Amino acid sequence: MCGIFGYVGKKDPIKICIGGLKQLEYRGYDSAGIAGLYEGQIKSCKEAGKIASLEKKILSEGLKLDFAIGHTRWATHGKPTDQNAHPHFDEKSSLALVHNGIIENFSQLRDQLKSKNVRFTSETDTEVIAQLIGQFYRGDLLDAVQKTLPLLQGSFAIAIIHSNHPGQIVAAARESPLSIGYDDQHTESIVSSDPNAFLPSTSNVMFLRGDEIAQVEAGKISIFNSTLKPIEKKIEKLESNYQAPSKEGFEHFLIKEIYEQSSTIQKALLGRLNDESACIEFENFHFSDEYLKSIRNIWLLGCGTSSHAGWIGTMFFEDLSRVNASVEIASEARYRNPLLASDTLVIAISQSGETADTIAAMREAKRRGCSILGICNVVNSTLSREADSTIFLKAGPEMSVCSTKAFSSQVAVLALFALHIARLKGLSDGEMRKYFAHFRKISGSIQQVLEKSSLLQTIAKKYAKYNDFFFMGRRYMVPTCLEAALKLKEISYVNANGYPAGELKHGPIALICPNFPVVAFCSNDQTLDKIVSNLMEVKARGAPILAFAPEGLHSIIEIADDIFWLPESIDPFAPFASIVAGQLFAYYIAKDRGCDIDQPRNLAKSVTVE
Ligand code: AGP
Repeated sequence: MCGIFGYVGKKDPIKICIGGLKQLEYRGYDSAGIAGLYEGQIKSCKEAGKIASLEKKILSEGLKLDFAIGHTRWATHGKPTDQNAHPHFDEKSSLALVHNGIIENFSQLRDQLKSKNVRFTSETDTEVIAQLIGQFYRGDLLDAVQKTLPLLQGSFAIAIIHSNHPGQIVAAARESPLSIGYDDQHTESIVSSDPNAFLPSTSNVMFLRGDEIAQVEAGKISIFNSTLKPIEKKIEKLESNYQAPSKEGFEHFLIKEIYEQSSTIQKALLGRLNDESACIEFENFHFSDEYLKSIRNIWLLGCGTSSHAGWIGTMFFEDLSRVNASVEIASEARYRNPLLASDTLVIAISQSGETADTIAAMREAKRRGCSILGICNVVNSTLSREADSTIFLKAGPEMSVCSTKAFSSQVAVLALFALHIARLKGLSDGEMRKYFAHFRKISGSIQQVLEKSSLLQTIAKKYAKYNDFFFMGRRYMVPTCLEAALKLKEISYVNANGYPAGELKHGPIALICPNFPVVAFCSNDQTLDKIVSNLMEVKARGAPILAFAPEGLHSIIEIADDIFWLPESIDPFAPFASIVAGQLFAYYIAKDRGCDIDQPRNLAKSVTVE
């Protein structure tokens, strides 16, 4: 994972770099560091912990730099210590390097270097890159980088500075994303893992790939291929309507984002329900109606929360569009040998659009001849650039590592797309309009849940003492309960298993006992009686029961210890209100347990290594 950032230009490089790194902190926050040149020498400052503490250290040390590269780390090789924090250096400390990615053959390379008496100061895979470049350097930094890259196995985006090359950053990338930008006046340049961390003035952007190497100076960028032949890169105009993220009075980004969902759902629907034609419309959509009508299979790819949204999507395609659909966790999909024909549409789902496994699985499916539809929140992301067409969530930046509003918007977009196909296959005006009405009720039902959040806070207080939970549901509530369990795990550090309720008897019921609460998501009309019976079985074994139940399910009153009533909904749209309730439950438990809610331990917002 990790975020890398570099700045050359007239502005204060430390300030710009720290600002950029803060934008990239979603990629990891185990340690942070910065390096640059001052009075002809490499100077640096780095330490374990978040960027805010690096900022203080820089101030206390009075660091000054002429230009800079910086890094925010999610630890892969080596503990999150000061020593392992980037930048890393060659033996002579004449060059500094920051890296995002994983060097798979680092241990062989390190052994080879050690046999030449090269001394290492960290446990990282990154340091071998710095040391190799140092070994190859004979006055030409580009040449030393070019000689190093073929020796590396794995993925990387790197930025390097050298004391003999003032005002110059050399950058290179293979698989890990790296964008390079400059302003219209050609006065400054930026290197960043994500162009959304650029300054508002940096509107020209290019993306490095496939061992391309860039020589970056203030407002001037030269790109070379892997043999150092100069190449022309496509320059894209970056549209930025960036606004600094704010908690807007909420205690955490997470709770702010949970609350935003009544409006982000509306944004996901905005302009897409055409009442006049009873059709669904997507902006800049590149798939023809003929192609969509010819699809026989849909393969949905995603990781974590996005895979849960994809699972709900499979039910939409089966129930609403009558198309076969399956969801696959992208880290598995990329190594499968699937039978994908040209009538299989692949849908790659990702909030960030930078998840390494999702991108790799998508590329593999593309290589096998499939068309790719992206469902993504971040504009300009790798996924959105590589998919044949992308439907954006329009949910706005999601700052909390724990995904909430992106999930509900992903589910909404999947429902829209499923209905779009259904319409193309002949769903009537009347049926379409009924669904339009249901779409328009989602925001209100989310609002109803939010208005009762204090009740969930009280319930959560009661359950915060437990260390193990069993979540269950049926049909649409299966991925919903898995997602709710994931929220609890990641922000409260509590063990929460999600299961289809019908599986209870096939093993997990052995776990059920009085200190193992069961959280049941009941809002699925078709299977209501079934889940009530499952809860009776749980009750007979003495487990505390919290039920998220649709209003009117009287039979639950005698069974559950606690009930949170949810607004009525058709089955396919029940996940919206249910998940908001599940998110609030997880939030209040995490709060009660005093966890780091917006930046939970060991996590990163965007998982850019496999
Ligand atoms: C969600 O709360 C998680 N932090 C995580 O599972 C996330 O959904 C996953 O890493 C996929 O991210 P993406 O949607 O950006 O691809």
